[in-house]
Amino acid sequence: MFVIHSEEDMRKMSRDWRAGKSKVGFVPTMGSLHEGHLELVRVAKKEVDKVVVSIYVNPSQFAPGEDFDQYPRALERDMEKLRELGGVSALFLPKDLYKSRGIAGSEDEDEDEEASQKGEEENLRKRRRGGETATAGTSSHQTWISVSDLEKPLCGVSRPIFFRGVATVVAKLFHIVEPDVAVFGQKDFQQLRVIETMVEELNFAVRVVGVPIKREGGGLAMSSRNELLTPPNRVRARCIYTSLIRAKASVELTGVKDAKSLQAFITEAIESNGGRVDYVSVVDAKTLRPRKTVSSSTRCLLAVAAFFKSKHEGQEVRLIDNMVVGLK
Ligand code: PAJ
Repeated sequence: MFVIHSEEDMRKMSRDWRAGKSKVGFVPTMGSLHEGHLELVRVAKKEVDKVVVSIYVNPSQFAPGEDFDQYPRALERDMEKLRELGGVSALFLPKDLYKSRGIAGSEDEDEDEEASQKGEEENLRKRRRGGETATAGTSSHQTWISVSDLEKPLCGVSRPIFFRGVATVVAKLFHIVEPDVAVFGQKDFQQLRVIETMVEELNFAVRVVGVPIKREGGGLAMSSRNELLTPPNRVRARCIYTSLIRAKASVELTGVKDAKSLQAFITEAIESNGGRVDYVSVVDAKTLRPRKTVSSSTRCLLAVAAFFKSKHEGQEVRLIDNMVVGLK
């Protein structure tokens, strides 16, 4: 497994492989790898000759005040896991994908001067610190990809800049790795839809493959954030999965259900286990638009985001999960 840090080396390696008629597969991650990530690598290995995994905690998908600093980082262990798994040709570890290339950076100084002349320092500081579009450390970046309808519902309500950050970093990584196939998990269903749509609408020559959710023994969807939960809350949070399963079963049993009763059922299960609901939504699995009813003849998504108590005093961990109901 080659460990690559620079954009140029990564692009050259991928181009050399493809010139030699190898197909290149790509699994982008933010590290702290678990079985869910490794499953994506296994799927990629079946699809292509050379698999590239990237690890990069992308600042532009974290808003100020979110857990960018606390996001778990475990590079040594991650490398061990990938070596043990085998079949990964390259691990790409970009240092900073948002570094100034001299244009935005030099403008910053002018902006500072102008702002002070006009007495606007406070405004500028506010914009940088916590404005609606601020992120955790990408202030000089001005080019963003926005998948306008799909980025707004579900996680987009409480994380308005999240999918813009994801789409942008994935586009950057695609331009560097130039993969034939890219593999994403269905745990982040909305993210997968955003990437599929970006690839289709912006003519990326990449085939996107979605992989089913990998779960812990009790059903909790695997996530790098699970290790931030207190042990009892890691058990309680299983209620997300069990309530989704029951909701799905009740649709299959009765043939049709109104969305409100499913939402109420899942919400009650989460709250009675000490969780705090961010959203419980019933949406069309393609457009992610809300649905009033779920029937076994349409493809709907039950999607959940909920907070459970963190090991870090006074903090919470945000977990997401989903289940497709109806037509597959
Ligand atoms: P990260 O959360 O590290 O996830 C990397 C990939 O692993 C994503 O495609 C995600 O859907 C998948 N994944 C995570 N947990 C999974 C599980 N339990 N079962 C199946 N797949 C799972 O998602 C990101 O990173 C970032 O947003 C990224 C795409 C890398 C852009 O920064």
